[in-house]
Amino acid sequence: MERMTSPFSEYMEWAKTRSAARFNLASSGVEAFPLAELGARIEDLEISGPSDYGYAPLQERLARKAGVDPDRVLHATGTSMANLLVLAAAASAGDEVLVEEPTYSLLVDAARWLRLDVRRFPRRAEEGFRLDPRAVEKALSPRTKLVVLTNLHNPSGAFIPAEDLRAVGALARSASARVLVDEVYLEALAVLGRRATSAAQLGPEFVVTSSLTKAYGLSGLRCGWAVADPDLVRRMWRLNDLFGVIPAHPAERLSVLALERLDRPAERARRVLEVNASAANAFLAGRRDLHCPKVDGGMIAFPRLARGDVDVLCERLRGRYETTVVPGRFFGAPSHFRLSLGSAPATFAAGIENIGRALDEVVPERAVR
Ligand SMILES: Cc1ncc(COP(=O)(O)O)c(C=O)c1O
Repeated sequence: MERMTSPFSEYMEWAKTRSAARFNLASSGVEAFPLAELGARIEDLEISGPSDYGYAPLQERLARKAGVDPDRVLHATGTSMANLLVLAAAASAGDEVLVEEPTYSLLVDAARWLRLDVRRFPRRAEEGFRLDPRAVEKALSPRTKLVVLTNLHNPSGAFIPAEDLRAVGALARSASARVLVDEVYLEALAVLGRRATSAAQLGPEFVVTSSLTKAYGLSGLRCGWAVADPDLVRRMWRLNDLFGVIPAHPAERLSVLALERLDRPAERARRVLEVNASAANAFLAGRRDLHCPKVDGGMIAFPRLARGDVDVLCERLRGRYETTVVPGRFFGAPSHFRLSLGSAPATFAAGIENIGRALDEVVPERAVR
């Protein structure tokens, strides 16, 4: 088993203390949707309510959104808590979990904190970070309890087609393992009106997590969920008793309202993401010093610097241009940086212009192939 290292998330500390900036292209979600535009009235709220193992109106709306029965849904405090509960309920200390690399680092940090035996399989930059089921097959062992994926992929935004998910599902089934698919960014495809089949529809070996935090700009509601088989859901509810016990009831009420009126934040997000994707693609196409597949839906991109040091670029961006992006080292890919498309279009346009200026300064032309 891996040696226990620090249980703390380096990335989250950085995100909370170092990513704020005038031109913040590091944030992982669409900018905050205002409460006033949700049209909530004080009568819609109450401080306490019948939450115990799920607040029924919220369970029903989440189940309807996921296209499953309510007993397959766990409401959790963001995708973060949903992921932790899935890891804790589907595997025990010493069990092997296979996690894609690169990935959202909290998935690895949480698994390690639970003393799971974390093994990695690659999603290769040269292949546009696509999921290769053969890489999973190679890494799978009789000790594997869980395969962990993100769809859309964080950090690259790459989409996993249903046939590749099915192939990984069949592999997992043959090893009596499950597949956790963190779909928090798949919501961005839904917002854009694109077909976005959830792995929850593909078979009982799949466990899906997601939330309203990223694509809808509703981060403060902390409305997350997991969709799994009813037995695993029951285990997660019981484990949740050890953590928050019950969520803040006003947030549950507001989450019900948000799910009823999801077209409002979705419409705003669609406009933001469409405009910013065009700007990002024009920018990326014009830079010889950046390698990045075209943004095609979604809300993040993960350019690779052809030459030079990403940390130097990030320092210059922050120090001189009040602009932040996420250094790739937080994903184990230090020659990349992650760009979020969620900020207001004027902010995004200024932010990428600043990236261009900073690149011109820190990556000399003769060094670029
Ligand atoms: C893949 C992934 N999962 C989960 C989270 C956390 O989501 P939430 O805010 O819903 O807890 C993030 C945040 O960046 C993420 O990128």
